[in-house]
Amino acid sequence: MPSLNLIYGCLVMCGIVGYVGKKQAKPILVNSLTKLEYRGYDSCGIAVQGSGIKVYKDVVRVQELEQVLPRLSGTLGIGHTRWATHGEPSLINAHPHLDCSGKIAVVHNGVISNSPRLREQLTSEGHNFVSVTDTEVIPHLIEKYYQGNLENAVEAALLDVEGSYAIIVLMAGEPKLVVARKDCPLIIGIGDGENFVASDVPAILDYTNRVIYLEDGDIAAISKDSVEITRSKIRVDRQEHRILWSREDVQKASYEHFMLKEIHEQPRVIRDSLGECVLSTEPLIDLGLTLDMNLEDLLIIACGTSYHAGLIGKCVIEELLGIPVRVELASEFNHCRQTTGATTAIAITQSGETADVLKAMKSLRQTGIRTLVITNVPGSTASRLADQTVYTRAGPEVGVAATKTFIAQLMALYQLALSHVRVNRRIGERLSVELRQLPAKVQEVLDNEYQIINCARYLSRYDDVFFIGRGINFPVALEGALKLKEISYIHAEGCAAGELKHGPFALLNWDTPVIAIVAHDNTYGAMLTSIKEVKARGSPVIALAGEADEAIEELADLVVRVPYVSAIFSPVVNAVVVQLLAYHTARCRGCPIDFPRNLAKSVTVE
Ligand code: AGP
Repeated sequence: MPSLNLIYGCLVMCGIVGYVGKKQAKPILVNSLTKLEYRGYDSCGIAVQGSGIKVYKDVVRVQELEQVLPRLSGTLGIGHTRWATHGEPSLINAHPHLDCSGKIAVVHNGVISNSPRLREQLTSEGHNFVSVTDTEVIPHLIEKYYQGNLENAVEAALLDVEGSYAIIVLMAGEPKLVVARKDCPLIIGIGDGENFVASDVPAILDYTNRVIYLEDGDIAAISKDSVEITRSKIRVDRQEHRILWSREDVQKASYEHFMLKEIHEQPRVIRDSLGECVLSTEPLIDLGLTLDMNLEDLLIIACGTSYHAGLIGKCVIEELLGIPVRVELASEFNHCRQTTGATTAIAITQSGETADVLKAMKSLRQTGIRTLVITNVPGSTASRLADQTVYTRAGPEVGVAATKTFIAQLMALYQLALSHVRVNRRIGERLSVELRQLPAKVQEVLDNEYQIINCARYLSRYDDVFFIGRGINFPVALEGALKLKEISYIHAEGCAAGELKHGPFALLNWDTPVIAIVAHDNTYGAMLTSIKEVKARGSPVIALAGEADEAIEELADLVVRVPYVSAIFSPVVNAVVVQLLAYHTARCRGCPIDFPRNLAKSVTVE
């Protein structure tokens, strides 16, 4: 049973924004909130400081809220998109929340774990609560402690609070926002005579690329011309960073969905990942990606798609470096596998905010294990926890389904393995040359998208699908199934082809298509045998196979031809095929591809 505070907590998938400057706050807040929609939400709201604080919120999309907003005059404001997994999405529970006087408004991401006790105490002291959220205790605590200085009141309130939070506080008559964070992301965007606050970089990219990442325990007072950060009332300086992402990166351009745009960006992502190296014709071993740690054995921890990248990384690293690699789901590692014999750990997380991964990283740190993180988000919590960070070069990913960040993670893992190659230097050099050809190979897959669209039309009529693969392509089968289920809502399972006969065979019939990923490596013969076994049970087969594979025509009902690459790189081209297959299947079924139901971009709760 989840605890009460979790039931009513505003989970951290929520988005928060704040503005203080010379311009009208309302359109900026609305625009910033739309940039956070991809995180998933069920209700939204804003508060603007004019003559007093005015709050507008409801269980609607941001655009719908905008349509009913009156003319609102005010140059300070806060906004929120709420994503409640257990608590009721309702107008009352939507943010911002107010204190009794209606002068203090708060937006919050996170969970206040001791809110029932605080609520009881505050109620006995005369505070009236209107919602069932944990968040509402915060404005009341600030009201309780306010003695003329907002920062001091916020600091005193947070001393009473247990749990996680990123908050923005707006108070009538105060020409500033006060913000604080603990275990939840929060950034300050620096403008010219204006400043911004947000839970996520895309929210502010239309206005500035200068950001300050707050640390846990920081409290910042933000006016239009200044940012003052303190810890226990002592001033601290935090470095300003330039974000290299552009506003175009978070726009759909001419694509129908972000997911399709992001799939099509993958040749560029691979080129960017390889940096200058891709232009060189020299074989390369040293890709400049070296671990400043002992490489004897490795533990990889991750969730979801990043876990699948980790499984592929295991095959690559074991083959090229000859060291044992263990891959664990972070959520399982946290509950069952606290002991580890590994000397070095790699955490893979595109968002850098996945709660299960962060928890695993903290426990690894406590046991003295050095951790490298592969992440796509500069300044993310994971990058602060890690001893070393490798930033992938995917650019911001908006679609909830991870696509280009997965390919970027694979690039980081290939580079890492090739940079430390010990088994056979000549093989390493050959592979390094081939790595540079991958953008063209992926482009070939994209250029032949029509063959995948045909298969997707066919697949969209079914309710149950199996993906099968072997060896380094077994994780691609897992990834194909995950992509298909999350955006098309078709039940899909990824299965090691050799495991079909140990149970899944019972489900195979004419109504259960099987997608077979056929690699031209030492698993080829066994894979053909698996396909014959599947056909014998009546299941239609869609095969992903090399251009020159004639044998497959006899066996499969439909074939998607993939360009030839060495087995070790085959997950890259095959992954792009299964991404497109999931995308077009979901499109045929009319699904909301970029915002699948019940899912959020960053899963920041355990
Ligand atoms: C992928 O399509 C999913 N949305 C999800 O499985 C995701 O990969 C997982 O939540 C891990 O996220 P992370 O990489 O940000 O840690």
